[in-house]
Amino acid sequence: MAESWVNYAERIGSDLHLELSGPGSRRAALIRALRDAVRGGRLAPGTRLPPYRSLAADLGVARNTVADAYAELVAEGWLTARQGSGTRVAERARPPHSAVPPKAPAPPAPSARADAPHRSRPARHDLRQGTPDASSFPRSAWLASYRRALQQAPNEVFGPGDPAGRPELRAALAAYLARARGVRTEPDRIVVCSGFAHALRLLFGGRSGQILRSPLAVEAYGLPFHRQLLAAEGVRTVPLPLDEHGARVDRLSRERAVLLTPAHQFPTGGPLHAERRAAVVDRARAHGAVVLEDDYDGEFRYDRKPVGALQSLDPEQVVLIGSVSKSLSPAVRLGWMVLPERYVGDVLAAKGEREAWASVLDQLALADLIVSGSYDRHVRRMRQRYRDRRDRLVAALAERAPHVQVSGVAAGLHAVLRLPPGTERSALGAAALHGVALDGLADFRHPDTDMPAHDGLVVGYATPPEHAYGAALEALCGALASSGTRGS
Ligand SMILES: Cc1ncc(COP(=O)(O)O)c(C=O)c1O
Repeated sequence: MAESWVNYAERIGSDLHLELSGPGSRRAALIRALRDAVRGGRLAPGTRLPPYRSLAADLGVARNTVADAYAELVAEGWLTARQGSGTRVAERARPPHSAVPPKAPAPPAPSARADAPHRSRPARHDLRQGTPDASSFPRSAWLASYRRALQQAPNEVFGPGDPAGRPELRAALAAYLARARGVRTEPDRIVVCSGFAHALRLLFGGRSGQILRSPLAVEAYGLPFHRQLLAAEGVRTVPLPLDEHGARVDRLSRERAVLLTPAHQFPTGGPLHAERRAAVVDRARAHGAVVLEDDYDGEFRYDRKPVGALQSLDPEQVVLIGSVSKSLSPAVRLGWMVLPERYVGDVLAAKGEREAWASVLDQLALADLIVSGSYDRHVRRMRQRYRDRRDRLVAALAERAPHVQVSGVAAGLHAVLRLPPGTERSALGAAALHGVALDGLADFRHPDTDMPAHDGLVVGYATPPEHAYGAALEALCGALASSGTRGS
């Protein structure tokens, strides 16, 4: 058996790992290994293969063995050989007469979407809440920031990272959050993490023991993924009912921590009433408790006055948690915790001695994006775009499905369409028939809540790319117009 990493980076910029094993000649083993690598997707269409000589030298086989193997795979249709461009994996590599078409890469299983309750079939129109328009990621600005960050980075950046996060990012965040969200903090109270979910894990499942303990009060409607994550850490969540002023914080009993979405209740959409904001912070102060503020889409506010961070009422009673998952992309995996002083040491201990979650280079790029003003420019552009989409949604529904009441649209990336009691399932069914993927409100309801259930649809109007939004809206209106959602 011969095994090798063939480093031909100077020529084509990638490594190729091949294992020659199994029965038969070296030629047969090489053909099998290459075929498997193409079939399994390890060698993507268009990939240039190493020249005969270097692959032969590396594998310890004769040059002709490699040439023969390539020729065989060209004949089978797996590879192409062209004068001047070498041997490459065929664009649609498959055996010429194979009855079995190559497997397309499977789309991620719906249940794998951390933020989606469930999904059953692929849909043409994606109106699931949870993600910003992925086609609008500010690629050029991110690249420019990354380049600048790399050029300016001192060498120590390429050593193990500080678990608190890069000082450049913490300074940029302190200034940005103060400016844009009214947060009161200093860089040394900020700990960088990989997003909201990571922050929950650090607080409730830290390796040095839990920082916060079960039970945790949560809003009766919220993201099931977060409840599941907490349950996996052994945390019992106790639902607080919601009304038109937000969470009933007067129902808190002995819980030492409460998780809220004060700026924009997720998913129902309203802000927490000013009196309740003050009341929950007062209570935390009086009982030595803590409020966890999920500031997941605080930047996206349309009609009403901006709602600043609850944290500003008392930075010693509130942990503010934010991330770039809505403002940039959930793929970036960067977030922050703004902590009361008493938790900073424990959270750092929970992170461990070295940064193990958030790429230090990404942190520097984000710091540059913020300091250079590109982050603000992107958020402002997206705010305008989402506001336009929101307006189109409201106008289209008023015309095509006037029986549906739209709520929660003053902010955020999603709207809630309130439906007459008992009609949510049929509306979801109609949406599926029209090729529309979205969530029903029931998916977000805490299983232990005793508050009355509301029927509704959660529409992620930010999700589709711009060019697809009109068709998605049309399909949604068609579904609602045709479904039995008019009630009785
Ligand atoms: C309610 C809520 N909180 C927080 C987040 C952010 O989670 P994360 O930072 O882990 O991507 C999301 C999803 O974007 C969300 O819907």
